[in-house]
Amino acid sequence: MTIHIGAKPGEIAETVLMPGDPYRARWAAETFLENAKLVNDVRGMLGYTGIWNGHPVTIHGSGMGMPSLSIYANELIRDYGAKTLIRIGSCGGMQEKVQVRDVIIAMTASALSTPSSGIFKELNFAPCADWSLLRAAVNAAEAKGVPTHVGGIYSADVFYDERPDLNEQMTRHGILGVEMEAAELYNLAARYGVRALAVLTVSDHLLTGAALPSADRERSFGDMVEIALEAAFA
Ligand code: HPA
Repeated sequence: MTIHIGAKPGEIAETVLMPGDPYRARWAAETFLENAKLVNDVRGMLGYTGIWNGHPVTIHGSGMGMPSLSIYANELIRDYGAKTLIRIGSCGGMQEKVQVRDVIIAMTASALSTPSSGIFKELNFAPCADWSLLRAAVNAAEAKGVPTHVGGIYSADVFYDERPDLNEQMTRHGILGVEMEAAELYNLAARYGVRALAVLTVSDHLLTGAALPSADRERSFGDMVEIALEAAFA
């Protein structure tokens, strides 16, 4: 057990899917895993371990924002031996060509700051996805026929942004979407020599104001879970 995760040793799989929302972790585990067992509920952050296609998989919430994700990812990697961590979540679209419901697979994640800024200091480290996972996820998404974009995303520190000019600069530089977790997941994966990827569904759009109807959220989320699972074991 760690400070924030109550799982016993051996109860966390080497492959971990991380949605922001703990209820999404429960839904994904109950929908896609066999014999899903609750292994963590400390502070309501649900984690489940079960079997997918014969492989042990844990689906564990990250919470919202990089400080929260950092707590869970650090403990999953350092204390439980997680080796492959895939964020599955939502993002705001930042390009005209990106539509609500599309999938974005994040090659890189730019950020104003991350919990790792304190160690990088003046260095602008470039957090990037694991290539083998990225390639496998793109293949899985294409095989499913899901409209998919691959490129850079922006991991913001705030949802209610008082600096809209930063979003504008991200759009100007081709960034596909904005969320709040991937950059630190990629930093931690680099630090500890494990694999990480973020697979995102566009839930809203900063340029058009469009938003995914709530009835469609479950289906889009399910596509992401399948893409992540297929990528992890490709
Ligand atoms: N901003 C930040 N995070 C998000 C957004 C957004 O517009 N949409 C989904 N996650």
